[in-house]
Amino acid sequence: MNQQKIACLTAYDYPTARLLEESGIDVILVGDSLGMVFLGHPDTTQVTLENIEYHLRAVRRATSRSILLADLPFGRADDIEDAVESSLRLQAAGADMIKVEGALIAQIKAIVAAGVPVMSHLGMLCQQILIEKKYTMKGKTPQDAARLLREAHALEEAGASALVLELVVPHLSAQMTRELTIPTIGIGSGPCCDGQILVFSDLVGLQPWFRPSFVKPKVDLATPLQAAVREYIREIKNEDI
Ligand code: KIV
Repeated sequence: MNQQKIACLTAYDYPTARLLEESGIDVILVGDSLGMVFLGHPDTTQVTLENIEYHLRAVRRATSRSILLADLPFGRADDIEDAVESSLRLQAAGADMIKVEGALIAQIKAIVAAGVPVMSHLGMLCQQILIEKKYTMKGKTPQDAARLLREAHALEEAGASALVLELVVPHLSAQMTRELTIPTIGIGSGPCCDGQILVFSDLVGLQPWFRPSFVKPKVDLATPLQAAVREYIREIKNEDI
């Protein structure tokens, strides 16, 4: 297959989204990583639908060419009716597509039937962190690999348009990519997916206090940013009163 791979990044604000869009990114995700990266929470579970709507509107203002993807936050996919209503709200706030964690087949069918395209998300599900306790690779045992493969096929059949694979062992994400007709988007899942996604601040080294092991930042933005702020402070302090 000679198709170009799909490049995806997160953004939660207008300037970042505008820079990404103008750089030619294919997909911008207003993800629930917002909670950790932007709001200072320890995990993604405190992000609300209103948080995603608020940031989505800002990102929408900067985005006309890239596909705009939004996360259905923690707890909003438990109930089918709520999942559909919340997805429609995100669509109204500007999302082209909704990302839903987990093999929630009935919810995916209902959201798609309501006219909202869905990107599913398997592997490490950050919204499960309070149960799982740590972020770990998935699909290591034959049983777990078989479960993930079954779920991936079921999600495709349910109408998902694409599938994020987070921390899935590379040979399994490669197998899924071969077997599925919908594109797979990897994060920490090896090079063989149809596309890749990263959290923007990880890519540009904006949060040196937290760096996932699979990320190799392209630049260290925190250092020049702090240098500029220190220079500014020095200049102010040296001015005569
Ligand atoms: O919220 C997010 O940023 C995500 C990516 C890690 C895929 O879901």
